[in-house]
Amino acid sequence: MQNQSVLEAKSAGAGKFYDRIARLYDFTFKFNGYGRSLENYFRRHPLPLPDGAHVLDAGCGTGLLTLSLLRALVRPAVITAVDLSLPSIEKASAAVAQQDHDSRHRVRFAQANLLSLPFPDAAFDSVITSGALEYVPLREGLGELARVLKPGGHLLHLPVRPAFASTLLEIMFRFKTHPPRKVEEHTRRYFQIRAHHRFPPLDPIGWTKSAILAQKQYE
Ligand SMILES: C[S@@+](CC[C@H](N)C(=O)[O-])C[C@H]1O[C@@H](n2cnc3c(N)ncnc32)[C@H](O)[C@@H]1O
Repeated sequence: MQNQSVLEAKSAGAGKFYDRIARLYDFTFKFNGYGRSLENYFRRHPLPLPDGAHVLDAGCGTGLLTLSLLRALVRPAVITAVDLSLPSIEKASAAVAQQDHDSRHRVRFAQANLLSLPFPDAAFDSVITSGALEYVPLREGLGELARVLKPGGHLLHLPVRPAFASTLLEIMFRFKTHPPRKVEEHTRRYFQIRAHHRFPPLDPIGWTKSAILAQKQYE
């Protein structure tokens, strides 16, 4: 295990990279229907959330997942979306302001490293993350997400899985796919896995990703 401050310093590079490529990222993933696939997933597999649930989107980027969630949620929620990259957050914030969604939802943004989140323990009913854990060591990343999640709360993460299309994305977006065995092993370290969803093969999101729903155990 590496020293926490060394890990944080290393992970800061991902933020600087996304400061430069936020527009390219946003364009690429809007083009391939990623947001629409996420929205369909959220509609077909509603997250178990109470009214007014506090949800963390860790590594929100330009807000594609945040926007999908906002479109699909049927109960009012307070979403906190964090990222290392300020230009990405600004893009996400502008997109949320422009999107027509249920006015009962609240969204707030903050610049933060998912390895050292500026929130107290058990602050969130649910944590969602897609595309960010690939930039950090799994044990530390999942450990920090577990810390801020309430006991009984759910984590949804969408790991990239090894595939030809994933290799292209790795090169374009400078990340490393975690081996699926390690993803499951580290998820089980902090959570109970409730479902492992495979996307339909014709859905571009399914070429590179799956979705793992996991629950933090009660103490
Ligand atoms: C592939 S994008 C995914 C964005 C968004 N979640 C989505 O699904 O479109 C990865 C994002 O993770 C962010 N990121 C990488 N490492 C991070 C970290 N340690 N803490 C917070 N954000 C991080 C990057 O700045 C980038 O915006």
